[in-house]
Amino acid sequence: MPFSKIANSIGASATLKLNAQAGRMRAAGEPVIHLGGGEPKSKAPDSAIEAGIEMLRSGEIRYTPASGTLAMKNAIINYTEKYYGRKVDPQNVLASAGAKQAIMVALIALVNAGDEVVYPVPYWVSYPEMVRLVGGTPVAVHAADGSFQPTVQEMIDAIGPQTKAVLLNSPNNPSGRVFDKEFLLGLIDHCEKNGVYVLMDDIYHRLVFDGRQPVHCYDCTDQSVDESRLVVLNGVSKQFAMTGFRIGWAVGPRDLIKTMSDIQSHQSGNPCSLSQHAAVAALEGDQGSVDNLRVELETNRDELVKLLREIPGLNVSVPEGTFYCFCNFRAFDRDSTRLAAYLLEKVQVVTVPGVEFGMEGFLRLSYCGDIDDIREGVRRIKWILDPDGAAELSVGDVVFTR
Ligand SMILES: Cc1ncc(COP(=O)(O)O)c(C=O)c1O
Repeated sequence: MPFSKIANSIGASATLKLNAQAGRMRAAGEPVIHLGGGEPKSKAPDSAIEAGIEMLRSGEIRYTPASGTLAMKNAIINYTEKYYGRKVDPQNVLASAGAKQAIMVALIALVNAGDEVVYPVPYWVSYPEMVRLVGGTPVAVHAADGSFQPTVQEMIDAIGPQTKAVLLNSPNNPSGRVFDKEFLLGLIDHCEKNGVYVLMDDIYHRLVFDGRQPVHCYDCTDQSVDESRLVVLNGVSKQFAMTGFRIGWAVGPRDLIKTMSDIQSHQSGNPCSLSQHAAVAALEGDQGSVDNLRVELETNRDELVKLLREIPGLNVSVPEGTFYCFCNFRAFDRDSTRLAAYLLEKVQVVTVPGVEFGMEGFLRLSYCGDIDDIREGVRRIKWILDPDGAAELSVGDVVFTR
């Protein structure tokens, strides 16, 4: 094999693979229901679209500083003050091509070959591969009680002399779990005392339900941003429905941010200037679209949970935020890849196998799409998993058979 060891250790993103497969099925006219997606169906905010058009018309679409324009940084600074209660300087801020790139450059900046990066199970599918891409060793921490949040002690037990960083995502993709303050306090305290960086992937942080307030990492430290080991990662993809714009950011200690910016300057140059301009408008414009999205997601979540709970044998935890419900399907099949393939083949419903997130026997179902798709998807799943169900199920002109 002519490719590098790192290349050979990386698999394709399971979720992107499923998106592509669902797209192909749709294009072929099949009545596929996509409950595997990770982007809202709503449009980008008008302010962002107008700003983008205005800049395009100017014809001045140029390189920007590698770490982002001053306007972009100022928007992130204001956002950080508003939602995290911390006043940071431009030197604490890096804009990237999505939170994905911000996480990658943070890992390149921190991890030597063989260093470990620790994260709880279930985890976002990209974390293990991102750690492998920089030559690091991913360390996934399971909760002994099978829950979606290990204890502080379980996390601490996994942190050793080789650990460079802990990677946390709350609200969590795929579980929808919001990590509690006690967990963050205990973990951050341990990491700061031991020189371990905490990378907080907050990409869903305003998409929390039932009147909850997300717990922020800066509420869990007395250190200044520069002295702390905390790095906040965020972006416009999820909250502003701007996935294709590819704008994310990192806020952290200035020495780390400077290094990340140097890396990014050689890696991709700068985040797209047009997208930065649009993202500034989204961050500074009317925030109503984020509130609307949260309310819609909460309605969809309620409907999905209600319908799933009508399927005997399914173990459903109520997501506290995000776009996802992570359900225990072990009563039907302990092999989640096989079960997801079965649902796709038999009833054309796309779900994501839990094994991709480190938890076998679970499936991730998204509720960021259309509520009618959610209803129809669960109707089909319920039918095919019911051993006493009818022999056929009609969907328009199509008839599914067992
Ligand atoms: C937990 C998590 N972090 C980061 C990202 C990537 O976000 P972005 O589109 O800003 O790269 C995603 C996207 O699915 C995600 O679910």
